[in-house]
Amino acid sequence: MRELVATASSLVAPGKGLLAADESPATIGRRFASVGVENTEEHRRAYRQMLLTTKGIAAFISGVILHDETIRQNAADGTPLARLVEGAGMIVGIKVDEGAKPLAGSPGELVTEGLDGLRTRLVAYRQLGARFAKWRAVIQIAPGLPTPACVLANAEALARYAALCQENGLVPIVEPEVLIDGDHTIERCFEVTEAVQHAVFAALYRHHVELEATLVKPSMVLSGNRCAQQAGVTEVATATLRCLRRTVPAAVPGILFLSGGQPAQAATAHLNAMNTLPGPRPWTLSFSYSRALQEAPLETWKGDAARAAAAQTALYHRAKCNSAAATGRYTTALEGESHP
Ligand code: 13P
Repeated sequence: MRELVATASSLVAPGKGLLAADESPATIGRRFASVGVENTEEHRRAYRQMLLTTKGIAAFISGVILHDETIRQNAADGTPLARLVEGAGMIVGIKVDEGAKPLAGSPGELVTEGLDGLRTRLVAYRQLGARFAKWRAVIQIAPGLPTPACVLANAEALARYAALCQENGLVPIVEPEVLIDGDHTIERCFEVTEAVQHAVFAALYRHHVELEATLVKPSMVLSGNRCAQQAGVTEVATATLRCLRRTVPAAVPGILFLSGGQPAQAATAHLNAMNTLPGPRPWTLSFSYSRALQEAPLETWKGDAARAAAAQTALYHRAKCNSAAATGRYTTALEGESHP
């Protein structure tokens, strides 16, 4: 367990966060479609190679979450992409869930699958170089949702996954995402997020998961994206911190937020505000963003190798801004900085 505690602590090193680059082929297909790139295995490989070889990014990024396809792919020169991550001084992570599927008996709700055979897959991922893992549970807010059945089934699966990760030498990232979709208020998001986090930590306790070797990847407490009343930066940061102080034990070394469809600069501003507000913060608060880090580079790249360097500069910029936010030193002036 000592090695896992050390890995968790490296992942939450000051001013560093994670690059989530673990989109399933279907999800990245939607992102590629938005910029007119065909969703082929070779395009996914080239895109990820471009992201992972961004010079200097390890100053802001401690680890990268890869998809099963990516951890088995090689760069154009034959080097496994996982070795490129390690070579740059970052830690290799792997998404191990098999996606959120309809929960029988609970219309409109999802439960994440992938526990069957997970022990064997974890052993293989460790051999491929992974030192941490991710499992995402999805909770939808709507009238009458989420149901206790959905919250408890997802919490139980997260805890069984986390226990298996620790048994097999990987740090579990426990990700219960309360979706931004809907017209719900920030107060309703708070209530649901609090209940979900509470259920998750009760399940982790039941399954003897060592919190010192566990990282949490929650959604922020936000107004629903179709709510007429949108909470401001300080309100979001205050509500999110209040919720997590109530539910996430101080033994957890770090909370690495997902961006969840927020505009990229809002995700940065919210994280920065949480790191500057008064009051206790027993854990490191940082980022594990996919969209909020990748939107700008993807939009720049658009599948054109000639634009790879500009796309890398765009990724470098967002990573640097989020790194500043992880220590409460982000200002909008940073957005105007240019990079070599
Ligand atoms: P977003 O930051 O785009 O929400 O993705 C984070 C993630 O890894 C979802 O599982």
